[in-house]
Amino acid sequence: MASPVTTGASRGLILEAEDTVGIAKIDGQHRFLASLYNNMMKILEGDGNHEHGIYGFTEFFSYVNYHFSSEEQIMRRVLYPEYRSHLFDHRNLIATLELLGRRIRQRDDGAVMLAKVIGQWLFCHIRIADKDLGWYLAVDSAFNSVDTAVVATAANQAGDSDLERFARYPA
Ligand SMILES: [Fe+2]
Ligand SMILES: [Fe+2]
Repeated sequence: MASPVTTGASRGLILEAEDTVGIAKIDGQHRFLASLYNNMMKILEGDGNHEHGIYGFTEFFSYVNYHFSSEEQIMRRVLYPEYRSHLFDHRNLIATLELLGRRIRQRDDGAVMLAKVIGQWLFCHIRIADKDLGWYLAVDSAFNSVDTAVVATAANQAGDSDLERFARYPA
């Protein structure tokens, strides 16, 4: 299983088939999230241009917010029992990303290492918490005899109403 390295030059966030959660919308967003993370790391580790670093971070941070909102809407729609702990993890990640943003703006030497830790954290979150949500959606459909299309529709519609500003990102 691939994962981001935490020492030396980052190989980036690499998601493989086994890292999918089984919901097309979420998996598509994860792939885009990984590409934005990798782009940010490439800038932070290679380019060294301060403005580019801020831009790369801002793009990644904006999309993390969008993606988390999207997942949280899905969880609320299906009354996901682990909603609070999942939300707590999202909030902690956002708070740590805000810290990263401050460090990048302040040209702090520790920014790259913090970004690597965040990549590792995000990867673990996808593999554990997001996969658990995917399993819940699948099991919930089976046990409650809910047409899987209904759950899939709810999942795929979540987040589409109030997040039009991210329309340029993959749905
Ligand atoms: Fe996710
Ligand atoms: Fe999540």
